[in-house]
Amino acid sequence: MDKIAILCSGGDVSGMNPAIKRFVEYSFAKGLEPYFIHGGFEGLIDGHITPATYPDVAGIITRGGTKIKSSRSPRFHEARYRTLAANNLKAQGIDKLIVLGGDGSFRGMELFYHEHQIAFCGIPSTIDNDINGTDYCLGVNTALEVIKNAIDSIRDTASSFRRAFVIETMGRNCGYLALVSAITSGAELCLIPEMNLNIEDYKGCFESQIRKGRDYFIVIVSEALQNSHAVSQWFEQELGVESRVSVLGHIQRGGNPSVYDRLMAYQFTTYAIDALLEGKTHSIICYTKSHFSFKSIDEVALNSYQLDKELLALGHEQFAPSQCQM
Ligand code: F6P
Repeated sequence: MDKIAILCSGGDVSGMNPAIKRFVEYSFAKGLEPYFIHGGFEGLIDGHITPATYPDVAGIITRGGTKIKSSRSPRFHEARYRTLAANNLKAQGIDKLIVLGGDGSFRGMELFYHEHQIAFCGIPSTIDNDINGTDYCLGVNTALEVIKNAIDSIRDTASSFRRAFVIETMGRNCGYLALVSAITSGAELCLIPEMNLNIEDYKGCFESQIRKGRDYFIVIVSEALQNSHAVSQWFEQELGVESRVSVLGHIQRGGNPSVYDRLMAYQFTTYAIDALLEGKTHSIICYTKSHFSFKSIDEVALNSYQLDKELLALGHEQFAPSQCQM
């Protein structure tokens, strides 16, 4: 029987466990022998590889995180450790690998493949939604649901006082989570690196809104800007509105995987295993304009992600200073 292994790398997402479950079940269905690599590339380097069984994945579909654990692996940046990793796979007779991870993990896989030619398929998995070549990364929908619930709850308390709430979302350098959350939660302002807005430009408009009765503000800020506290102070000093910062943090990565992420996990994993069985050796399964397609690791890993132009246009339409209603 051909042997296939799966690993999770980088920030975990809700959707990894459903993908791991599908991996085990579909591997057996296809006559493959499935293996787990525990602890991402760190575990691969250290040889933490075990056979996977049905009981291992029973009940995990409802859980966030990853049963087989993840890691960020500085060692995998070094060629000698990638050689150790490749030798561990070869020693077990594993010649097919599924990698759930983000762009950093895929850059590592790009090197690994070119050095050791072990066939793999990558599944884009990061709440940041910042992988070039795919519109959707596993875990994003669940993260957006968590953020939506958090903002809705904060709105309850914001509206009970006269306060501005500056809510900081994750996303690393990418404003996707912040922008989608701001549009869909009725925020007054959204600050992300891709839009380059100057808060001073809203002063007159917000003053006018306050005079007409607005008594609270919801502002969504991407962590990339690192200015949540400065924005909060601006509301206090320039507008005289008491302000609080709420950094949502790692709650955005956890929680019960949404229906959408369970379905995407199922489909991504099925496509990834099929790709390896069809002889694809170094591809990423992408989801673009509602269709699945394979892209080469070089195309995905060596280019940086740009926020979708149509989404960005919506952001400008909603949040540009000229759109602020006095
Ligand atoms: O890449 C996912 C992510 O959650 C980013 O949004 C965030 O900047 C980072 O990981 C946090 O990393 P860590 O969990 O290592 O603190």
